[in-house]
Amino acid sequence: MTCALRRWAALRRSLVLLRSVLSAVALSAVAVTLGGCTGDDSAAPDAGAAEAAPSAASGASAVAARGCDRCHQPSDPREGVLAGQTTALPGSHAYGSNLTPDPDTGMDAWEAGTIAQAVLVGQGSDGGPLCPQMPRYAEAGMEQPEALDIAAYLQSLAPVRHPIPPSVCPALRPRARD
Ligand code: HEC
Repeated sequence: MTCALRRWAALRRSLVLLRSVLSAVALSAVAVTLGGCTGDDSAAPDAGAAEAAPSAASGASAVAARGCDRCHQPSDPREGVLAGQTTALPGSHAYGSNLTPDPDTGMDAWEAGTIAQAVLVGQGSDGGPLCPQMPRYAEAGMEQPEALDIAAYLQSLAPVRHPIPPSVCPALRPRARD
């Protein structure tokens, strides 16, 4: 009887010991995990924010540096910022479109990614190619972050109602619609 009791006590002691060892292991595992999490939490959003948040101010500088106004700025400034040109570009039936978010005559609610695609690779909102007069800025070294800055800037413009004739590009458009 005494012997059995002693064995039981010894068993319990080792169980208690085992439990504390296990919980120590578990605690340090949790600590490591949390440590990793805390590290990620502090690093990821900051890095993401620094890289990903598009800036309309940078977009305005990029638009000025790239000379988008040559084709998209009305000759009369009172007709609005980047509200398009009603005269076709030389030797073409292509018109620099209204880049303001006007619902009827501008880009309305184009998503930033769609605008970036138009600027980088000349892809229109319908997925087809824009007239070749619109430069493909990826070929000039532009990358996605700059295009997204430009998109943020264009989306921030005051919507201007300024109807622009539709561009017609004989070499590209009819084939795309066939
Ligand atoms: C040499 C003239 C020219 C320059 C410079 C130019 N564009 Fe364009 N862009 C055009 C023409 C023309 C179109 C219309 C093409 C079409 O409808 O097929 C166009 C279309 C676009 C479109 C599509 C809009 C729509 O409603 O279909 C966007 C966006 C755009 N341009 C942005 C820009 C930005 C931003 C810049 C400067 C980084 C720029 N463009 C510089 C001529 C130009």
